Amino acid sequence: MAALHVLDHPLIQHKLSIMRSVETSSKDFRELLEEISMLMAYEVTRNLSLRDVEITTPLCNAKARMLGGKKLGLIPILRAGLGMVDGIMKLIPNARIGHIGLYRDPVTLNPVEYYCKLPPDVRERDLFVLDPMLATGGSSSAAITFIKCRGGKNIKLVCLIAAPEGVQRIQQDHPDVEIYIAALDECLNHNGYIVPGLGDAGDRLFGTQ
Ligand code: PRP
Ligand code: URA
Repeated sequence: MAALHVLDHPLIQHKLSIMRSVETSSKDFRELLEEISMLMAYEVTRNLSLRDVEITTPLCNAKARMLGGKKLGLIPILRAGLGMVDGIMKLIPNARIGHIGLYRDPVTLNPVEYYCKLPPDVRERDLFVLDPMLATGGSSSAAITFIKCRGGKNIKLVCLIAAPEGVQRIQQDHPDVEIYIAALDECLNHNGYIVPGLGDAGDRLFGTQ
């Protein structure tokens, strides 16, 4: 089973606590999600491979290292995953972006797909699936299955808050996928919301509640 990484850096935890508060505006929520995503990207990309290069500094020639592995792809799950893209793109601006549109049926809680557009060379990229909320895990698991069906192989899942149920679901359905989160919360409530959570991430992000 792939690892679960809980990124407990103080800056991430501080910003996440502000996001959780019901008092936080959509504007601040969006900015904080972007900032946390950038901080998470630093950890999520820790194992990217490097290649040796020769450069010339103002003083001399020198050996240096630059990114040398596979190209990268970000795949936000619509809608809320969109809020994580800009922060990560600030650190890896050449990544390609795919989109998967899913919503959770409010009665069955099962994911319903309405859009999927991935980079054509998805099978050759290291892929990061983005969604702030891992609740039952149904949406993320379905998104990863779509990506695998289209040839994607090296996949990491990056979320802000997870419920234990969601982590378990991904580890069962996709034991090859490492999961990165900022917090592992207590449980789901009877509507499938993460407790304590932060409410509906998409609605808070886009001001639609
Ligand atoms: C939310 C969230 C995840 C999903 C998590 O999306 O952004 O995609 O629910 O729940 P799950 O783990 O139980 O599947 P939602 O369906 O509310 O759509 P939205 O982002 O368009 O608001
Ligand atoms: N989707 C959300 O946006 N929030 C939750 O707590 C669960 C699913």
